[in-house]
Amino acid sequence: MANFFTSSIGRKFIQSISGAFLIVFLILHMTINFFSVIDSIKGTFGAPDGLFQKGCDFMSLPIVTIMVPVLALGFLIHIIYGIYLTVVNLKARGGIKRYESGSKGKADSWSARNMVVLGLVILGVLIFHLTHFWAKMQLQEFIGEEAWNPYLLILKTFQSPVILCVYLLWFVAIWLHLNHGFWSMFQSIGWNNQVWLKRLKVIGIVVSSLICLGFACVAINGYIEAHCTTASAQYIQPLLEQIAAMK
Ligand code: HEM
Repeated sequence: MANFFTSSIGRKFIQSISGAFLIVFLILHMTINFFSVIDSIKGTFGAPDGLFQKGCDFMSLPIVTIMVPVLALGFLIHIIYGIYLTVVNLKARGGIKRYESGSKGKADSWSARNMVVLGLVILGVLIFHLTHFWAKMQLQEFIGEEAWNPYLLILKTFQSPVILCVYLLWFVAIWLHLNHGFWSMFQSIGWNNQVWLKRLKVIGIVVSSLICLGFACVAINGYIEAHCTTASAQYIQPLLEQIAAMK
């Protein structure tokens, strides 16, 4: 069994299963966040019974909260194995300059060659992201305090054009990482039918684009709600006043 975790097949298998788990998380997370865009369309962004508020209430149910350590473990395994796989591959291919002479390296896409760098950028911004949202919601509940209003957090975070740009660049890095990760995940679990690999590459582009465009809409919508008068103005005004009073 110990051999499985260190064998080439085992390493790739663990990396792809943990990656699949994280993609499922991203689809769920993006869908619930996208509720805030639907709220804007309905004029209920910031309403106590808004759709996004209901989604966050669902995410704070004990049955869902119990998944947080599992999610953290999924991230941890994916990161540690990702770095481990890269180091082992680098050694096997003869070091960091391996792509300069080999033809195999040139055939790989930019994303494929930069998976570990993209992963580390994603991790860095993820920590920044957790301080914006998770620390003000779930962490507060863990320590027995009341969670912050999720609409207020969206407004507070995305009202800054600089933070909005950091998030948009983060989504681009995630898009590149998922583009390669999606089909590579199937290849790693033994799916090496060439026709299907081509199809999976296309499906991967569609899935990663939907995920990242969904997140981008949430962030841009947050910026618009914070700066323009919209159909949800009656709910947003008190939240903006609360944010101004914090400064
Ligand atoms: C516009 C984009 C995003 C918004 C508005 C957003 C919003 C949130 C919110 C409100 C929470 C707290 C949920 C709660 O405590 O109940 C949260 C937590 C979290 N977010 Fe995001 N998120 C975004 C993008 C992302 C992306 C792209 C990732 C992954 C790469 C991510 C990973 C996480 C993780 C791991 C947590 C902690 C676990 C959890 O609470 O579910 N988020 N986010």
